[in-house]
Amino acid sequence: MSNSQPIGIFDSGVGGTSIWREIHELLPNERTIYLADSKNAPYGEKPIEEIKHLSRKNTEKLLDMGAKIIVIACNTATTNAIKDLRNEYAIPFIGIEPAIKPAALNSKSKTIGILATRGTLTSTLFSQTSDFYARNINIVEVEGHGLVELIEAGELDSPQMRSHLLKLLEPFFINKIDYLVLGCSHYPYLIPILEELLPKDVVIIDSGEAVARQTRSILSEKNLLLKETLPHKPIPEFFSNTNPKVLENLIEAVQNGYKVSYLDF
Ligand code: DGL
Repeated sequence: MSNSQPIGIFDSGVGGTSIWREIHELLPNERTIYLADSKNAPYGEKPIEEIKHLSRKNTEKLLDMGAKIIVIACNTATTNAIKDLRNEYAIPFIGIEPAIKPAALNSKSKTIGILATRGTLTSTLFSQTSDFYARNINIVEVEGHGLVELIEAGELDSPQMRSHLLKLLEPFFINKIDYLVLGCSHYPYLIPILEELLPKDVVIIDSGEAVARQTRSILSEKNLLLKETLPHKPIPEFFSNTNPKVLENLIEAVQNGYKVSYLDF
């Protein structure tokens, strides 16, 4: 393994680009390869064995592409498959999990909300984390049913998204949460509209930055961090197994020199 190999990132679709963004900002000299498995999105309501199977498929593609580390930019895949992946493959894996800990530690009302997929909310890893960090906290869990589909269709702020969100957010209004944890890497794209719809004192947190810091720390620990600055900044590479238009639109907002291609995987 050499430090010039790329960081491999995968998600069930376009949402994990919110994590890629943090990684790219923290480690701009590193090569990144992103796989959007949009053909199989959403993962959140699939049986665990299928989530594991899809996670293995993505891992193997990233290994073929020469990844030196794999970032699972998907809460559903992390909470259901990371343990198996770590047992089965020698490469280091970084996962993303809902940021329950900081929300529980900082909540004044002792009532926090979490918006995540069914797969994440019903996972053993999530219940272990919640038991550990938030035993004395009231956690209002809401399954973001339908949100990933709308985001995959590029509907970040459509009338349909707004009315759907208003209905989903109701338990958070009723229970007067003061923190909202975003437990799905697609949801950071909803922050502008969530800020509009939620009461002003609700703090929204996601785990993107923490994942980027953890990626840097594991790369450094394993001597895989790119130390030298390359003469030309590497071009981030994105692959989608459906029409890459939505992916392109999301990336375009942050990055000019980028490459998005269709890939059957
Ligand atoms: N981005 C995935 C996550 O973080 C979305 C899950 C899905 O595809 O349902 O959970």
